[in-house]
Amino acid sequence: MNETHSIDLVVNGQVVSRQVPARLLLADFLRQDLGLTGTHVGCEHGVCGACTILLNGETARACLMFAVQAQGCELTTIEGLTPEDGLSPLQQSFCGHHAMQCGFCTPGMIVTAEAFLARGEPVDAESVREAMSGNICRCTGYLPIVEAVMEEGRRRNLESSGAIDRPGAK
Ligand code: FES
Ligand code: FES
Repeated sequence: MNETHSIDLVVNGQVVSRQVPARLLLADFLRQDLGLTGTHVGCEHGVCGACTILLNGETARACLMFAVQAQGCELTTIEGLTPEDGLSPLQQSFCGHHAMQCGFCTPGMIVTAEAFLARGEPVDAESVREAMSGNICRCTGYLPIVEAVMEEGRRRNLESSGAIDRPGAK
C-alpha cells in the first residue's frame, strides 16, 4: 500500500503544500520534490551531517526524518542561506580558507556553522570543533573549516560592536 499524506510547511520562506508518501525521507523530499539539491545525502543514517538543515531554527538531519514529520515546520536549507547574488560572508570565508575539496560535506558544514554562530556563543577553536563535531569531511581536513568559522565569528563580533559595517549596509 502506498499511503500518502498532505503536508504544509515553509521552506526557505516559501509556503509549500504537497501530497507525499508516508515513508518519503525529508532529504529525498527536499531534493527530488523541491529540487533543493544542496541538501546532500551521504550516510543516510545520521552520522555524516551532509544532510543537515535547520528545522524551526535548530539543526536537524534530513535523512533521519520523514517528510510528513515536517508538517507545519519551518525549514531552511543551504539554498535559503545563500544570497541570490553571490555567497554569504560565511561561505566566502570557507572559500578564502580553502575549507573544501569535493564540497560534498560543505552545505551541511555551512548550515551547522550558521546555527552555531547565530547562538552568539564565544567563538574559539574548541567551541567551533565542538559545534562542528557532528559533521564529517572525508577530504579537506578540519583545520581550514575551523579557521573559516572562527574568522566569520570574529567578523560578526566586529560587526555587532559597530567596528565594521554589515554587508550591504550604507
Ligand atoms: S546523510 Fe544524513 S547524516 Fe549522513
Ligand atoms: S570537502 Fe569533500 S567531504 Fe568535505
